[in-house]
Amino acid sequence: MTPDLFRHLVAQAGLAPSVHNVQPARWRLEGETVWLFEDRQVRLSAADPTGHDATMSLGAAFEGMAMAAAQEDLRISFDTMDDEGTGDLRPVARLTFTPGATEDPLVQHVGARQSWRGTFTTATAEDRQTAEVLTDADCIAVTGPHTIRVIAKLLDMASFTFTVRDDFRAELLSWMRLRRGHPDWGRDGLNADAMRLGIFDRIGARVVLGRGFRPLLRCGLAEKLLSEEEKTAGAAAIVVFHRPEGEDPFDSGRAFYRAWLRIEAAGFGAAVLAALADDPTSAETLAAMVELPKGRRIVSAFRIGRRPQHAPFPAARRSLDELMV
Ligand SMILES: Cc1cc2nc3c(=O)[nH]c(=O)nc-3n(C[C@H](O)[C@H](O)[C@H](O)COP(=O)(O)O)c2cc1C
Repeated sequence: MTPDLFRHLVAQAGLAPSVHNVQPARWRLEGETVWLFEDRQVRLSAADPTGHDATMSLGAAFEGMAMAAAQEDLRISFDTMDDEGTGDLRPVARLTFTPGATEDPLVQHVGARQSWRGTFTTATAEDRQTAEVLTDADCIAVTGPHTIRVIAKLLDMASFTFTVRDDFRAELLSWMRLRRGHPDWGRDGLNADAMRLGIFDRIGARVVLGRGFRPLLRCGLAEKLLSEEEKTAGAAAIVVFHRPEGEDPFDSGRAFYRAWLRIEAAGFGAAVLAALADDPTSAETLAAMVELPKGRRIVSAFRIGRRPQHAPFPAARRSLDELMV
């Protein structure tokens, strides 16, 4: 493993999705061994108190590295660590590389994948048919417009159970970059371009999620202003992502990234609807609606559809120097 190859692999792993774009993965090269750590400083105490989503994000970053390594004809063997450690860096996995790998066709979509939080073009019958093909061992694609509308309402209810919490909103706002001049606009978190917020929405988001929330809640406006029902209902499909009950979130994160790349490969943009899985009541309702197989757990969901023509926006990502420790 040369330092240049290591840098290349870290850069590719850095393109993986992560919760609130906190990018918790840190990498170290020691001889021929690569260490993966979690930067605990970016744990989300309100949104992710157990570290479940951070661990999924680490799994996704690992998968990104594995796909990039396969392109260099390198196969990764790894052990995961149970040790919680003490400092800011929690050891997550130790990776070794051996020659001889099968190239992964999904790797072609790594560069283009991005969350798409805007509206979709009107879904056609053909789009829905294409989306149906995404149903596989880990995914159930719901394409019926009526059921999608029901899920859209469920998502709003689920999201509201989190946004109503002051600690959740404050933490979310701290990761939002609503001004282009924000020092971390291009580095981490959720910037206004990634959230597809127009100039008025940017001001609105600060007010609704900030000081305006309680007064708006009292007049019954908060839920309406935060609703994503129309956007979700306009999806070609809702893809429900499920994995075995009791699975380590690291493995779920690996599969989650792959599922997202398959969606991208089918030509769809996707936004994650984690609230549907994170709110237990909604997850139970959704599981019944999609007839979730026994022994499986809903880990996440996506709304997917065709993206309209749009000006590309660069992904906010940490520099390589920050990712290598
Ligand atoms: C575990 C996990 C949970 C996520 N939950 C949400 C979510 O609820 N809503 C959302 O819009 N994006 C969610 N995302 C997507 C991230 O915000 C997104 O990947 C990150 O901002 C990086 O942007 P990118 O996907 O465009 O590369 C989640 C990602 C992960 C890995």
